[in-house]
Amino acid sequence: MKIFLDTANLDEIRRGVEWGVVDGVTTNPTLISKEGKPFEETIKEICNVVQGPVSAEVISLNFEGMIDEARNLAKIDENVVIKIPMTPDGIKAVKVLSKEGIKTNVTLIFSPNQALLAAKAGATYVSPFVGRVDDLANDGLKIVEEIMQIYENYDFETEVIVASVRHPMHVLEAALIGTDIATVPFSVLEKMFKHPMTDLGIERFLKDWEKYKMGR
Ligand code: E4P
Repeated sequence: MKIFLDTANLDEIRRGVEWGVVDGVTTNPTLISKEGKPFEETIKEICNVVQGPVSAEVISLNFEGMIDEARNLAKIDENVVIKIPMTPDGIKAVKVLSKEGIKTNVTLIFSPNQALLAAKAGATYVSPFVGRVDDLANDGLKIVEEIMQIYENYDFETEVIVASVRHPMHVLEAALIGTDIATVPFSVLEKMFKHPMTDLGIERFLKDWEKYKMGR
């Protein structure tokens, strides 16, 4: 499974990339706004750090605006993926962009039928928002499972990015059902490394090593 970082923070991206486990990055207008820097410049900097897909979201809601923004964003770097919201205009734009060879990530997916439409339009990726589904007392991962079943039934090549990840259990469940990608906040990536028995084990080994050295 590929792991993307869901952040626009360069320090976090650098650290994740140095650990060797980050395959790409997703951003959204909220994450970009947190960094307080020009949008295009931020995307370019991210592309310079990570060798993999970097999602940048359009702001326009109409077809023409989305296409204009998408074509400009795609010029920033060959790894830029255009994030487009799941609307009729968005899907229309995905169809055109996919014919132009511009990669797309259809975002704000909350149902399998939305994912079906995105795949039919030729989306490179879809992003079901599991955390936001769970927030409404529904099962986000169940929706992901159904999307994967549909894609398998019809041999769609669209890859599923499990998004709106809140905790390591989301990543584990995504991996168990075999999703292509999980995009995770940096804090979740950090938690994935952790186990108290690992820390305790290291502590004990070092203590025993000290005793061994003293006795020689
Ligand atoms: C996905 O691509 C989005 O950027 C993100 O996962 C949304 O997560 P949130 O629900 O925590 O805002």
